[in-house]
Amino acid sequence: MGWSSWNNYGSEINETLIRSTIDIIESNGLKDAGYLYINLDDGWQKYKGDRADHPLEVDPLKFPSGMKALADYAHSKGFKLGIYSGPGQSTCAGYTGSEGHADEDAKMFASWGVDHLKYDSCCSHGDAPQAEVQQVMLDMSQALIATQRPIVFHACHCGWANVQEWAAEEGANQWRIGQDISDDFNYPGNREKYYFDVLDMIDRGNNITQYSGPGHWNDYDMLIVGLDGESKQLVGTGASDLEYRTHFSLWALVNSPLLIGASISRLSPYNLATLTNKEVIALNQDALGQAATVQWQSDDKNLQIYSRTLSDKSMAIALLNRGSETKSITVSMREHLTVGWDVYRLRDLWKAKDMGPYDIPFTTEVRSHEVKVYRAWKVACTVGC
Ligand code: DGJ
Repeated sequence: MGWSSWNNYGSEINETLIRSTIDIIESNGLKDAGYLYINLDDGWQKYKGDRADHPLEVDPLKFPSGMKALADYAHSKGFKLGIYSGPGQSTCAGYTGSEGHADEDAKMFASWGVDHLKYDSCCSHGDAPQAEVQQVMLDMSQALIATQRPIVFHACHCGWANVQEWAAEEGANQWRIGQDISDDFNYPGNREKYYFDVLDMIDRGNNITQYSGPGHWNDYDMLIVGLDGESKQLVGTGASDLEYRTHFSLWALVNSPLLIGASISRLSPYNLATLTNKEVIALNQDALGQAATVQWQSDDKNLQIYSRTLSDKSMAIALLNRGSETKSITVSMREHLTVGWDVYRLRDLWKAKDMGPYDIPFTTEVRSHEVKVYRAWKVACTVGC
């Protein structure tokens, strides 16, 4: 959990912005909710162009105090600092990459006190054979391990080269399951233009939940909550408060890293409340690490029931309405969720309201683009408990 610079700022980052982001996260409840990683994305580097022509150095105009000072600042306030590079001659935004310099760069990142590396291969190895992609990721993974500093390794391959099938074995802690998110809940027009909206991303992830687990996570991309159509970087016209809440709930349910992508200083009270709901975050951080999967959907696929088991043997249940009208959804423990709970109780996590106990299926209205999220506990059970 943390914040990343890309979705709102693109390459327009600097030391003042990052320090003030840290200060605000420290004081507005986000730190208490668990957002600890402050991740710089592309754009911190001094040079554009090939690594063969330029070294990898910090841009002294954007970061005059240097990266070690920034990491020290983050650590002094209890945060972690993340940095970005890629295995090519240059990165996706055209800055010098790490090709041929994995060991040297890993040592430099460790000497600065970096805690997270996003190693982004979208431009340099987009069409490369899988074996080559695996090798460059493995080179950096081993280089990081050799530094003996615990650094979370984000092997970003944007959903190509079947990254989810091999990245965990090569030491990756997270990998992107698809191309970049757009600031849209459901806007099919962006698909041909490379971008995935919230529903595209969730559908893509639904097919590969088995690859995600403790220490190695499917990454559905940084959050768009609060971008409000004003990102300097992402396409998209923004989503409603309710749609952002649904997006956040879904990312929590499937255990995606929760990296806020918006400008922290512009978050509305509603979006801040969305991002700090501790009971929803608890699903995302649950030690069992099981991602929610679709248990039932209506014939038109507009209504879906998701569930997952949690480490205390309770269950998370989510009812999603992707359609344009309010609909009612009925959930039967036996039929939809295949558990033999005869009596159960529920807690509506967005309303913070306890419900039940029930000994019959429960029915609720779900608004257009809303997801209702419940935690359910068994009270009595006779068969298949
Ligand atoms: C592509 C990634 O998908 C984005 O999240 C971002 O890291 C950019 N590259 C940076 O150039």
